[in-house]
Amino acid sequence: MNRFTGKTVLVTGAGTGLGRAISLAFAAEGASVVAAGRTASSLDETVGLIKAAGGTSVAVTADVTDSDSLRNLVHESVTRFGGLDIAVNNAGIFRGTVPAGEISEEDWDAVLKTNTTGVWLAMKHEIAHMKENGGGVIVNISSNLGTHMRIPNAAAYITSKAAVSALTRAAALDHIHQNIRINAVSPGAADGPMSLFPGETEADRTERVKTQNPLGRVAEAGEVAAAVLYLASPAAGAMVGTDLVIDSGSTA
Ligand SMILES: NC(=O)c1ccc[n+]([C@@H]2O[C@H](COP(=O)([O-])OP(=O)(O)OC[C@H]3O[C@@H](n4cnc5c(N)ncnc54)[C@H](OP(=O)(O)O)[C@@H]3O)[C@@H](O)[C@H]2O)c1
Repeated sequence: MNRFTGKTVLVTGAGTGLGRAISLAFAAEGASVVAAGRTASSLDETVGLIKAAGGTSVAVTADVTDSDSLRNLVHESVTRFGGLDIAVNNAGIFRGTVPAGEISEEDWDAVLKTNTTGVWLAMKHEIAHMKENGGGVIVNISSNLGTHMRIPNAAAYITSKAAVSALTRAAALDHIHQNIRINAVSPGAADGPMSLFPGETEADRTERVKTQNPLGRVAEAGEVAAAVLYLASPAAGAMVGTDLVIDSGSTA
């Protein structure tokens, strides 16, 4: 399929894990991909993989906690590829595996600033461009931890992602009349660094997850990417403010 030929797609957190898989999947279907994150070397690797497969991509270093950086990111998308059609706000962090009352103020602030404010701030700049240019599509990466389920010792992350799910719905209502379609994808444990416990190998995780969710395995990064591409595609034209859960049945 070539659903995204001629489209420019911006992906935050594109240098690793799910963001890289999402970037590769869009590029494989013809999109020009703006790969964004803070670490130039990992972004360059993603761009290299895309180019090696015959795709089009550019790396732009950007920090989702910094408004000027995000303004520049949208500007670079427009300058390099002539516009911004689709944005995937995927950058996120997990910190503070302690009970809620013991989370440090520094960890709390960092998680909320990156995961929640970072998504809002990215959307602010993306929407500013899209509403002046006929519209666009935004997919925010939330989590099944938040609105859908909770686990112990992850209160900052859970709070930040519940807010991303709510923000997605609220923003979708506010901007659909400008032809900006906004949805979220909420992965459960997926094949990315974030689902590894401290010190855990991928093989350890495979064993652990066998009894932790009904399917008995984590979601492949490509399975999460497939959902993002569907929501960004014209086939999902009537999907507005949804929060699509991909969690191997954890919240079934
Ligand atoms: N893997 C899972 O099991 C899972 C489950 C549910 C939800 N998610 C969500 O999926 C998203 C991707 O997770 P992942 O598993 O792929 O983890 P990951 O590999 O750690 O990816 C997170 C990405 O975000 C970037 N990032 C972090 N802070 C940033 C900032 N301030 N500005 C710009 N980029 C920043 C990181 O790159 P730099 O550090 O280079 O900036 C990194 O590339 C996250 O939002 C996560 O919460 C993951």
